Amino acid sequence: MHKIAIMPCDGVGPEVVREGLKVLDAACDKYGVKYEPVNYDISGERYLKTGEIIADSELEELRQFDAIYLGAVGHDGVKPGILEHGILLRIRFEFDQYVNLRPIKLYPGVETPIKNKGPEDIDFIVVRENTECLYCGVGGSLKKGTPDEVATQTAIYTRKGTERIIRVAFELAQKRNKNNTLTLVDKANVLTHGHDLWRRTFEEVGADYADITRETAFVDAACMWFVKNPEWFDVIVTCNMFGDIITDLGAMIQGGMGVAASGNINPVGVSMFEPIHGSAPKHAGKDVICPVAAIAAAGMMMEHLGETEVANAIDKATQDALASGKLGDLSTSSGVGTVATGDLIAGLI
Ligand code: IPM
Ligand code: MN
Repeated sequence: MHKIAIMPCDGVGPEVVREGLKVLDAACDKYGVKYEPVNYDISGERYLKTGEIIADSELEELRQFDAIYLGAVGHDGVKPGILEHGILLRIRFEFDQYVNLRPIKLYPGVETPIKNKGPEDIDFIVVRENTECLYCGVGGSLKKGTPDEVATQTAIYTRKGTERIIRVAFELAQKRNKNNTLTLVDKANVLTHGHDLWRRTFEEVGADYADITRETAFVDAACMWFVKNPEWFDVIVTCNMFGDIITDLGAMIQGGMGVAASGNINPVGVSMFEPIHGSAPKHAGKDVICPVAAIAAAGMMMEHLGETEVANAIDKATQDALASGKLGDLSTSSGVGTVATGDLIAGLI
C-alpha cells in the first residue's frame, strides 16, 4: 500500500489534481494496486486565512509518505516568492529532491509549433539539478529602497551536488538507450568558476560511462537547437536556473504547458510529482485547463513507486486520447473541458 500525500494547492491545481486522481484510480483498480491518499491543505488560501504555510509537524508527517502529488503553487492574493519558497522550494530542499526530471516528449496527435518536426524528433529528457544554483537563497540587500541600493543573489554549486546530478543523468542515458548521448547545458564561457566545476565534473564522471557520448552546449545555443534540431537531444543535464528556463521552452515544443509533467526525485527519500505549469488563477474554476500534465505526473509517480503496469496504463490511455483528436489543441480555448479530458482518459483505461 503506497501512502501518497495529495497537495492540490491553489488556482487550477485542485482541478487538475482531481482529474489526475480519477485516472490514477482507474489504473490502480484495473491492476489491483492500492494506495492511501492523505489530503494536505498547504496553499495560499490557507496562508491568507491562518498566516501559516506549512507547520513543522506537517513536514515531519510528510517524511512518512511514499510520494507527494502536487497540483500548482501561486495565489493572486500573495506576494510573489512567498508560496514558491514556502511550499515548492521548501519541500524540494527539505526532502533533498535533487533530481528534477522533465521529459520533453511530443505525443502523436499533439501539435508542435515547430514546422516539420514530429514525435520522432521531439523526445528527450531534461535532468535539472534541483537544490543549488541561484535557488539556494544566498544573497542580500543593502540600502534597500534607496538610490544606492545593492542586491546580491549568489549561485552556489558544490562538487557533491554537481557530481550526484551528473551521475543520475549518465545512468538515465544508459537506461534510455536512445542515442546514448548526454548533453551538458551550461554557460561555461561566462560562468568561469561555477560552470567550470560542472565541466570538470562532467568529464570526470563521464569516464565511468564510456558507452555514453558526452556533448556540451551553451544554454543560449541550446534554446536555438530546441527549436531548430530537437532531434539532436537524448538526455540533458543542467543547473537549476537554466533547467527552469529551458523546460518552459521544452514544454512549448511538446505541445504546451498542458502536457508537461515533472518529478522532483530523491532517489532514497520522498519524491514529489507535479505538472510544471503554475496555478493560472485567471483560468481557475472554469473547467478550461488541460489536465494531461497532472495526469502524466501521476504516471511518473507510479513508475517511480515501481508500479510499472499502472504507469504504462496511464501513459497508453493518455496517448490514445491525444491521438484520437478528441482533445482539440489542448489550449484553454480547445472547447474540451478539464473534467471531460479526465473522463476520456480514465474511460480508456
Ligand atoms: C518550476 C517553477 C518553480 C521553479 C517556481 C514556481 C518556484 O517555475 O517548477 O519550474 O522556478 O522551479
Ligand atoms: Mn519553471
